[in-house]
Amino acid sequence: MSAAASAISLSTASNVSFKEIADILNDVYTGYITPITFEEETVRVVLRADSLDADESWIAMRDGAPVGCALVGRRDRRSRLGAMGVTPALRGMGVGRLMLERVVERSRDRADERLELEVIEGNTHAIRLYESVGFVTQRQLLAFEHEAVGGGEVAELVDVAQEEAANVIADHGPDDLPWQISGRTLRAPRELYKAHRLGRAWAVVVDTPEGPRAMRGLCVERDARRQGQATRLLRALVAQYSDRPWMAPALCPEDLVGELFLRAGFTQADISQRQMVLRD
Ligand SMILES: CC(C)(COP(=O)(O)OP(=O)(O)OC[C@H]1O[C@@H](n2cnc3c(N)ncnc32)[C@H](O)[C@@H]1OP(=O)(O)O)[C@@H](O)C(=O)NCCC(=O)NCCS
Repeated sequence: MSAAASAISLSTASNVSFKEIADILNDVYTGYITPITFEEETVRVVLRADSLDADESWIAMRDGAPVGCALVGRRDRRSRLGAMGVTPALRGMGVGRLMLERVVERSRDRADERLELEVIEGNTHAIRLYESVGFVTQRQLLAFEHEAVGGGEVAELVDVAQEEAANVIADHGPDDLPWQISGRTLRAPRELYKAHRLGRAWAVVVDTPEGPRAMRGLCVERDARRQGQATRLLRALVAQYSDRPWMAPALCPEDLVGELFLRAGFTQADISQRQMVLRD
C-alpha cells in the first residue's frame, strides 16, 4: 500500500448528506471522459431509485476530508457499484483499490449472488482496476441516436403509468439487465418520465424539455416476441415525438437490442460501456 493509501480511512456514507455526496462526486469525477456535474436533488433522486445502501457505501477520508467514494446499491442478494472515484491529486496511489477491495469483501461476506457495475469503454485505468479484483465483462452496452424526423405516420401509442411499464419490464425482462434500466429502478417515480405501450411492447422514455428525448426501458411481453412489436414501438415513438432527436444512453445490451435499434432506424453512437460482474 502506498503512503497515500495508508493515510486513508474508510467510513460509511450513512451520515453523509446528499449535498455532501454531490460535492464529493463533483470532485472525484473531475476530468471524467464525459464531463458530468452532480446536483444535490438529482443525486437524491437517482441514488434512491438505484437503491443506494449508505451502510455499504464508502467515503475515503484523509486528514478529515473526503478524497474518494464508492457508492453501492443493493437489492436482495445483488449489489451494484454505481459510482466510484478518487480526487485527482490522489489517483494512482491505491485509494481506488482500497475502496474497491472493501466493496468486494463486503459483497462476499453477504454471499451476494451478484456484484456488478458499468464502466465506459476507454476508461482503461478503471477497467484494469476492476479486472484486477476479479470483475469480468458480461456484455457491451451500446448507445444509439436518431435524428428528428419532423412528422410522419403516427401509430396508436397508448399512454400508460410509468409503474405499469416498469412492472412489465421486471416481470418479462431478463433478470440481468443493467441496474439503471431494470424494472426495479424504473419503478421509482421520476419527473419527465413517461411510459407508452403499442400492442404488447412497452417503453419508458424521458421527455426532456430540451435536447434529445431518451429511451429508458423497453420490453416486449415474453410470448409476444419475434413479431416485430419492439421495432414498431421504436418507430412509433420517433414519429410521435418527431420535433427533436432521440437517444438511447449507453445501457442497451448489445446481445439483446443491438440489432433492434439499427432495424428501427437508429444509428450507433460513439460511446459505449461494459457491464461487468464479479467472478465467483
Ligand atoms: C478509476 C479510479 C477510481 C481508480 O482509482 P485510483 O485510486 O486512481 O486507483 P489505484 O491507485 O487504487 O490503482 C488501482 C489500479 O488501477 C489501475 N490504475 C490506476 N491508475 C492508473 C494509471 N495512472 N495508469 C495505469 N493504471 C492505473 C491499475 O491497475 C492499478 O493497479 P496497480 O497500481 O496495482 O497497477 C480513479 O482513477 C478515478 O477516480 N477516476 C475518475 C472517475 C472514474 O473513472 N471512476 C470510475 C467510473 S466506472
